[in-house]
Amino acid sequence: MTTADRVEAAIADRRAVVNDAIDEELPVERPERLYSASRYLLDAGGKRLRPTILLLTAEAIAGVDPLSADYRSFPSPAGGTVDVLSAAVAIEVIQSFTLIHDDIMDDDDLRRGVPAVHREYDLETAILAGDTLYSKAFEYMLDTGAPAEYSVRALGELATTCTEICEGQALDVDFEDRETVTSEEYLEMVEFKTAVLYAAAASIPAILLGCADETVDALHAYGLDVGRAFQIQDDLLDLTVSSDALGKRRGSDLVEGKRTIITLHARGQGVDVDGLVGEDPTDGEIQAAVERLEAAGSLEYARDLAADLVANGKRRVAVLPDNESRALLEDVADFLVERGY
Ligand code: IPE
Ligand code: IPE
Ligand code: MG
Ligand code: MG
Ligand code: MG
Repeated sequence: MTTADRVEAAIADRRAVVNDAIDEELPVERPERLYSASRYLLDAGGKRLRPTILLLTAEAIAGVDPLSADYRSFPSPAGGTVDVLSAAVAIEVIQSFTLIHDDIMDDDDLRRGVPAVHREYDLETAILAGDTLYSKAFEYMLDTGAPAEYSVRALGELATTCTEICEGQALDVDFEDRETVTSEEYLEMVEFKTAVLYAAAASIPAILLGCADETVDALHAYGLDVGRAFQIQDDLLDLTVSSDALGKRRGSDLVEGKRTIITLHARGQGVDVDGLVGEDPTDGEIQAAVERLEAAGSLEYARDLAADLVANGKRRVAVLPDNESRALLEDVADFLVERGY
């Protein structure tokens, strides 16, 4: 098996565990339309990268054999057991909540290969489904059976994360109307809108399993680095991968006038980034725009920046015991920027 196969298999194994848990935790109850809309995107797919990182981190901390782990009754080095799967579901449910609301803000019709929730249902239902998932996540995080002190700290981390995601999304929308945005401002925006959820995924198991602050902080920093790199790769994929392969609309960022690290670099090279495409570009027009960005060196610039962030992030996991799950956390970091979907 190559490293890429090994990491994809590790993600697929944990994705299956998380999907079964979502089935258990989020049944379609009354009002049925609200709950079926809440389940709709979760059932449509998704890579489950964040809950995978959460489970891998828990495995690495406890030093358990990854294949025989009972995530519902996970041995804590601090004594007793913790339901780390409930925490993993909480993180994925937050991810889906942000996607539902993000598609409303970004005026996107396609998500995970199916119509966005506000298209399949309606705007009111999509707002409510997002809100429901948002609050359910706190119920799941409350339900891990961890000692009260650790539970409260994990809930605090989740709450801060959600506040920061909203702040990041507000900056993302704000920047659309701004002529110039610096790379520092871009990196701060993606730290908040995207990386903090990776930081929560990596650090919350350490909190729940009673690790020292040094470990919690290093894992948080891992998440911030690899999460920013993940968003840069997302910005690259938006330009380079077909809507079919991506499950969301190719070129959406160009149409919406998003300020990404790619367009910021291109603007610095004298490219008129706002004039690259019209309101409803063909695939050929998007391709031509991408060729302009490529010629300006902007795609390469973004790839290099993402690679630097991943290299930094990987160094942080040295704080964990040396085992297979820790090695997988490093491989997942690489996967975040090497993936084509
Ligand atoms: C998309 O995240 C949202 C971003 C922060 C860019 P993913 O690419 O992880 O989406 P799913 O969960 O796999 O659908
Ligand atoms: C989304 O960023 C970040 C979120 C908090 C959901 P994008 O707007 O780039 O995500 P996609 O490309 O629509 O998945
Ligand atoms: Mg979007
Ligand atoms: Mg967005
Ligand atoms: Mg995107």
